[in-house]
Amino acid sequence: MSRIDRLLAAMTLEEKIGQLTMVSAGLTPLGPCLPHDARSEIALGRAGSVLNLWGVERTDDAQRLAKESRLGIPLLISFDVLHGHRTIYPIPLAETATFDPLLWEATAHAAAREAAAEGVDITYAPMLDVSRDPRWGRIAESPGEDPWLCSQVAAAKVRGYQGAPSAFADDRVAATAKHLAGYGASVAGRDYAAIDISERSLHEVYLAPFKAAVAAGVAVIMPAFVSLAGAPMTSNRHLLRHIVREAWGFDGLIISDYQAVAELVTQGVAADMAEAAALALAAGVDIDMVGGAYARGLALALERGLVRSEWIDEAVRRVLALKERLGLFDALRPRHRAADAEPAPTPASRALARDAARRSIVLLKNANSVLPLSATGRRIALIGPLADARLDMLGPWSGAGAAKNAVSILEGLRTALAGSDIGYAKGADIATSDFDDLQAAESAARNADVIVLCVGESAQMSGEAASRARPALPGPQQELAEAMLALGKPLIMVLSSGRPLLVSGLIERADAVLATWFLGCEAGNAIADVLTGRWNPSGRLPVTWPLELGQVPIFFSEGPTGRPPDANNRYSSKYIDLPVEPLFAFGHGLSYTRFIHRNLRLRSHDLAAGDDLVATIDVCNDGDREGEETVFLFTHDVVASVARPLRELKAYAKVQLAAGKSATVTLSVPVAALSFLDASFTPVLEPGEFEVYVGPNASPRALLKSTFRVRGGA
Ligand code: BGC
Repeated sequence: MSRIDRLLAAMTLEEKIGQLTMVSAGLTPLGPCLPHDARSEIALGRAGSVLNLWGVERTDDAQRLAKESRLGIPLLISFDVLHGHRTIYPIPLAETATFDPLLWEATAHAAAREAAAEGVDITYAPMLDVSRDPRWGRIAESPGEDPWLCSQVAAAKVRGYQGAPSAFADDRVAATAKHLAGYGASVAGRDYAAIDISERSLHEVYLAPFKAAVAAGVAVIMPAFVSLAGAPMTSNRHLLRHIVREAWGFDGLIISDYQAVAELVTQGVAADMAEAAALALAAGVDIDMVGGAYARGLALALERGLVRSEWIDEAVRRVLALKERLGLFDALRPRHRAADAEPAPTPASRALARDAARRSIVLLKNANSVLPLSATGRRIALIGPLADARLDMLGPWSGAGAAKNAVSILEGLRTALAGSDIGYAKGADIATSDFDDLQAAESAARNADVIVLCVGESAQMSGEAASRARPALPGPQQELAEAMLALGKPLIMVLSSGRPLLVSGLIERADAVLATWFLGCEAGNAIADVLTGRWNPSGRLPVTWPLELGQVPIFFSEGPTGRPPDANNRYSSKYIDLPVEPLFAFGHGLSYTRFIHRNLRLRSHDLAAGDDLVATIDVCNDGDREGEETVFLFTHDVVASVARPLRELKAYAKVQLAAGKSATVTLSVPVAALSFLDASFTPVLEPGEFEVYVGPNASPRALLKSTFRVRGGA
């Protein structure tokens, strides 16, 4: 008899429900702490997993409590390690801008190593919600707007957190693909709001990254808080059981979101906790995170005949199986002791964080080559509420990170330009409408040759429950920016934010603009690297940056219309008061050098099902310094049984080029990747004509075009 069979046979119903119940630690100024009632639930075998706990002693203590319970089953300890644990890396949206799967994997592995060393078994990452609305605060946690790109991130992150698919090494944790699915489409960008998207976009756009995560072997899936067309994800049997478990073959754990099972009552589909528990279990949710709905409702649901005892057993089996895979039944795991080593961040983790951070920075604009700042001889005024804001640099979801370990922009720049004249003034607050000695800011700026204006939003203004109906500059920052611009000096705007900010007017008037997102503990050093030119910016936007809020939602992979936008035709798809084009296209990002793309060729214009589409393009570094360019490839199926988006991202490649050098970049796409879901949602590859677009970003003006045919028949 296997260990799991033995345990199941020995368990009471209460102990089984305990394995399906997660309790939470509370956060105190001294770190996480298990409250008294959670401790007794664990000791009585009535809780099998814990949220928000980390630290060698605290997790050992919790595991000891569990070991002392009647059956001695270890706990699953879980925490949101989203972009680093102690060492904080760039927020996911920022890191996606690197377009670098090895880096995505490396930061996940480094985060897993630190978290595992502190007793964490499961991270609630990667977050894979395709996000097309900058009002939604959680866009910060996401890999952006494109399902294919999100799928690439999904696979890299699962590899990074979990390592080899067979077993978890001591420096890995179980990853969670969250939040399945469609959360990014919350109506009007308002967090938790219900969604109503088509079945096609559910499959093609929102579910695709989850499918990729399952293919990569993700251990856990978390359903989203939201409901789709009246069906909450937490009780969505069709999606969770029929699609995720049966069609995709997912045999891992499904863990509800925070209190989401209990919320089935307020979602309007369950009358009480017994019904809520029954609906979630029937849908395939194994663990009830924190709400206590399974603890209060499952036994009753069983009595009422709403659930079968086999469903409970199946869920318990999956929980025990993950505990076994993680090696938790064995004696104290060596990874606990690894924490005695050097406390993080270490020099090595900082080096990775700095590299990830500088690669995440997107140079949006650089008029008259005002950047990079020359190393000597210029007096700099560093102005703004985000110039010396260590905590904000960490961004949302950085619970185990510490402000004391973060480098502010002021600190980074002072180190990089030691001996230079750097004046600093805060100028304005973010959270209130108060200025902070505007005169000091003005006089510092007057005494300088160049102004570096550090504005944006605070870390708390993005992430969960941080939707903003006006995603511009909060507080009096707009007025501060106006006052700085009025001085008529060269002005570089450094934007810290978890989303594309709607500040088109300022971007137009600033000489240079950097999107620096929230870059983590090495933010200041990384920003200084870019400002001074020690690092030539290479980040590319993983989301379309709107011109005005009225364009939202905005994304490049739009479907065709019978009336494409036409400036000379009123009755075409456009606005009468705004251009349809965004301010910056997906993929946009400048460098301190200039690249020219030319001579797009296809190896063959006539392809069969098993072939690869192979495109080559010549890229020339036409500037005077070395730099890295990213080349994107999009396809369009011209005539199909279901109209296809005008551009679908299928590949990208990067090339590093010395000044004056050229290279031929090759991108290939299996023809099979051109298939899509037909009218009955069956994958199909339809023969016919395709367009292919290759270039530096998704703007039609920037792309070179060619065409090819896919042959029918065998
Ligand atoms: C969030 C999840 C998170 C969970 C646990 C919820 O509020 O939606 O993304 O993993 O809390 O912290």
